[in-house]
Amino acid sequence: MGRAEKVVLAYSGGVDTTVCIPYLMNDWGVKEVITLAADLGQGDELEPIRLKALTAGVKESLVADLTEEFITDYAFPAIQANALYENRYPLSTALARPLIAKALVEAADRYGADAVAHGCTGKGNDQVRFDVAIAALNPSLKVLAPAREWGMGREETIAYGEKMGLAFPVKKSSPYSIDRNLLGRSIEAGPLEDPMNEPLEEVFLMTQAIESTPDQPEYIEIGFTKGIPTHLNGAALSPVELITQINEIAGRHGVGRIDMVENRLVGIKSREIYEAPALLVLIDAHRDLESLTLTSDVTQYKRGIEETYSRLVYNGLWYSPLKLALDAFIQQTQERVTGTVRMKLFKGNARVVGRKSDLALYSESLATYSSDDQFDHKAAEGFIYVWGLPTRVWSEKVREG
Ligand code: ARG
Repeated sequence: MGRAEKVVLAYSGGVDTTVCIPYLMNDWGVKEVITLAADLGQGDELEPIRLKALTAGVKESLVADLTEEFITDYAFPAIQANALYENRYPLSTALARPLIAKALVEAADRYGADAVAHGCTGKGNDQVRFDVAIAALNPSLKVLAPAREWGMGREETIAYGEKMGLAFPVKKSSPYSIDRNLLGRSIEAGPLEDPMNEPLEEVFLMTQAIESTPDQPEYIEIGFTKGIPTHLNGAALSPVELITQINEIAGRHGVGRIDMVENRLVGIKSREIYEAPALLVLIDAHRDLESLTLTSDVTQYKRGIEETYSRLVYNGLWYSPLKLALDAFIQQTQERVTGTVRMKLFKGNARVVGRKSDLALYSESLATYSSDDQFDHKAAEGFIYVWGLPTRVWSEKVREG
């Protein structure tokens, strides 16, 4: 008896997931493997990947275009949550996992598979995200993770594949481990494993080095409707088009790079390089629009929610009850987050330089220092007496000794 009869495997076309195909069948006795390659706007040609899986022996090779759903249902809520893990990483890789898991579970259901599989190793966050998301969506499905168990290094994996009749075109192998989608790129390993090593320019693809950015600043205006970015420079754009264009503009100005040491869920600290131009720009702009349209107490309370939300998403709990409850809170706060934010992009910086909203709580007649001032200055005195009363009482007690 094998570990499963029929398996839907998340497929990238890389060495590991390709070797998973014969491995599942030969070593784990799986009768039928179906692959699913997800298009998340990573820019890969999906047709050669689809054909490659067929060559490796699968019955059915599926390609799912998930790009629009990825932006609408995963990236946009994260922007509304101003989600930054450990205050910096906008979760570009983490957000893709629950969606791929959902596509796997749906395919398993459609094809009557009793298991799904992925190519993650046992050291990362991605295995957690897949396993937990799959369990949440269909607790009766088995999850197989061959690369977590096979104990083969890079060379051995290739040798195993070749023994099984697979051919791996000798391309100059990259020392890096890279994950990519429309939201960004995550780069780790190789020379980056020494946290003191500056990343070489070769690791970046979406962002320019400061040395080669334009010498003139560029302004953009981002329009939000209920916390969702909908307009760029006055033009209504589709979600995918909006992200694509902002990636391009911000990347050209060297905006969107992150270099950090982060804490993985499995207890390891890891040095990561990220590029996520649009996501970072949009979170900054969105947070700024909130400062104009939310009350102070909602904003402050939401900061705590955002921190928890980011950690949940990072730690694989996208489809968890706490995450659903936080979603409800965040959605409620976004009702009136509608307006436009103006940003200036220049030499690696994206700075908010203006914002406006018909729903702004900002009142010029209250804020002004000119003679149009509507604020009741006399009311301040009584307020300050009450506000400061506990501190005054405390100070008197302390002085008594
Ligand atoms: N550390 C990041 C995260 O946990 C990126 C993981 C990237 N995966 C990879 N195969 N390089 O979301």
